[in-house]
Amino acid sequence: MIYPDGEALLRKKIGLDPNSIGSDAISRAFEQRMIECGIRNINSYLEKIQESPQEWDALIDSLIIPETWFFRERESFKYLQQYVISEWLTNHKNTVLRVLSVPCSTGEEPYSIAIALLEAGLKPTDFHIDAIDISKKSLLTAQTAIYYPYSFRGNPLSFQERYFQHQEIGYHLSEKVKNQVHFLHGNLAKTDFLMGTPAYDIVFCRNLLIYFDIVTKEQTVKLFERLLNPEGLLFVGHAEAGLLVNSRFASIRHALAFAYRKSTVTKSPINFHDRQNNKKNSSPNGQKRIINRNYQPKTKLQTQLIAIHNNHLSENTKNDLLTTSRKLADQGHLTEAIELCNNYIKQNRVSVEGYVLLGQLQQAMGKNEDSLQSFQKAIYLQPTHKEALTHLALLKENQGDIINANLLWQRIQRLNNNL
Ligand SMILES: C[S@@+](CC[C@H](N)C(=O)[O-])C[C@H]1O[C@@H](n2cnc3c(N)ncnc32)[C@H](O)[C@@H]1O
Repeated sequence: MIYPDGEALLRKKIGLDPNSIGSDAISRAFEQRMIECGIRNINSYLEKIQESPQEWDALIDSLIIPETWFFRERESFKYLQQYVISEWLTNHKNTVLRVLSVPCSTGEEPYSIAIALLEAGLKPTDFHIDAIDISKKSLLTAQTAIYYPYSFRGNPLSFQERYFQHQEIGYHLSEKVKNQVHFLHGNLAKTDFLMGTPAYDIVFCRNLLIYFDIVTKEQTVKLFERLLNPEGLLFVGHAEAGLLVNSRFASIRHALAFAYRKSTVTKSPINFHDRQNNKKNSSPNGQKRIINRNYQPKTKLQTQLIAIHNNHLSENTKNDLLTTSRKLADQGHLTEAIELCNNYIKQNRVSVEGYVLLGQLQQAMGKNEDSLQSFQKAIYLQPTHKEALTHLALLKENQGDIINANLLWQRIQRLNNNL
């Protein structure tokens, strides 16, 4: 039996999209709780959960999926460490790194963050982790911090020896790690969630957005814009990367880390020149991607371009086209840059660099389908071109084509391993 009023209430209160876990699972949860309460009528049960916070918590616990484990999606933690070592420690002396883990479930995620930060060289006083979940039962388990083998699945376990004591019953987490995490009860779907709280430098929100309906997803992404410092990092789960399309978040383009930064529209446009020619010196996040979509072509420049088109192009000028195109892009003149780049490709039909630049320019203009084709052409010409592969993976991810995106990330990983 389906309970439409029950589903509507869950959507309203916790943003749950019934399709994400299925109406059957929702019905089972309601029926199980109705049996426990000795209530036979769904309307009476719905009244009860409105009146009884305890029963509401019990329903939540029979609905939620608390699945989590230590260092789940390990690359996210590696990237966090890399960020702290190469960026945070240099630029933020004497500042406490503020981290939020929501939903934290039974604690494996925030404790993994704490271990990762300690191993990256931060002192306990250098960082603060808030960990939030809607399930009070899960939070209690988290605070107890005694874990069983199921929480350590599939990972190299060297950290286990360093931070846990194996006792008769379970693995007991060291006080040093435990003390770093402050657990709080909260509902991310509420519009006043963490209202008035100082911003965070790092937010982990993994494996929850997939359960939210579209309105709550959008509301949550906006919430993270508010909750994150301008240079902050947002980590999501691998299945959630596509949900940040059309948001103000841009991927940091690190294979399998699923980390994002706010991409604010600022005075400086994308530095295509640096990205192409000076990759080694670029920032560790690989991307200060700032898109100037409000660009208005300048008449003088347009006149110059028309002159270039109408002229007979010498061999040197032909080769200069790509360089000029990059310079134009650097200055924010995207339309002209695309025109020049297309011109260059017409004369250099097997230029991988030409297609990669064209793809980047098209992406910056929001022409995702065109840019997809350009990156595909670049990869056809050079199957090991990592930059083109990364762009394509991100585009697929943004389109929600997670399967193909993951295949591309695996290909990039293999190329990295073969270096
Ligand atoms: C699959 S776990 C994810 C845990 C961890 N982030 C990870 O990726 O391993 C999902 C958690 O979301 C919590 N949750 C569900 N709805 C929530 C909400 N509206 N606000 C806060 N937490 C919620 C559940 O209690 C559950 O612990």
